[in-house]
Amino acid sequence: MSTGYGKSPSPESDEGVRSIDTSEISASERYQLLTSLVVPRPIGWISTWGSGDTPNLAPFSYFSALSHAPILVGVSVGHRATGPKDTLINIRNRLAFCANVVTASQLDVMNLTSAEVGAAVDEFELAGLKAEPSNRVDAPYVDGCPAVLECVLEQEVALGAAPNTLVIGRVVGIRLDASLPLIKGRSEVDPEALLPVGRLSGIGYAMPGDIRKIARPG
Ligand SMILES: Cc1cc2nc3c(=O)[nH]c(=O)nc-3n(C[C@H](O)[C@H](O)[C@H](O)COP(=O)(O)O)c2cc1C
Repeated sequence: MSTGYGKSPSPESDEGVRSIDTSEISASERYQLLTSLVVPRPIGWISTWGSGDTPNLAPFSYFSALSHAPILVGVSVGHRATGPKDTLINIRNRLAFCANVVTASQLDVMNLTSAEVGAAVDEFELAGLKAEPSNRVDAPYVDGCPAVLECVLEQEVALGAAPNTLVIGRVVGIRLDASLPLIKGRSEVDPEALLPVGRLSGIGYAMPGDIRKIARPG
């Protein structure tokens, strides 16, 4: 099979292996493979102000930590046939967003906020949540969410042919529920108390369960 990149895998290496040339499969196959292999993904539950100060909330699992000095996070926001999603429009207008950490007890409400609804719809209200204004950035956060990253827009990157825009946010503040314990002597939030949810493919989620601690070698 030609890879299209000037290298053909040998027949031996194909034995018992599905060797997939990503240029030969459909966009939905690429999506399904990618999102079932890069797992579990953290979910940035992104809150912004829309026009007329309507709060907007939606989950994004193309979300990751990028650096810590400064703290940068990345969110890849897809575009609809009609144009960018409300989250991107709002971030461009206000230059800010909050990334709320999705925890086990918030799984169902997080899912409700992914509804493909018009810009005038307040997803906080839709899911029975309350939007609180951040006092550091021009964005709301989810009231009661135990951990929130308050971000300003650092950079926007167009991702070539992809119908996605990478938003890089600089975390200028972190809100932590006072009851969340830190690991003794450190600034690490205890994952067994935070209970963060990871996204698998499709409608699957990884719930926190068996957390192992392994010392680094050396
Ligand atoms: C768990 C989860 C993760 C998602 N991740 C993304 C993502 O990374 N990028 C994206 O464009 N849409 C993602 N979506 C879909 C958006 O949440 C959905 O399109 C939402 O309506 C966007 O809202 P907005 O128009 O208010 O920005 C995800 C949905 C779910 C349930």
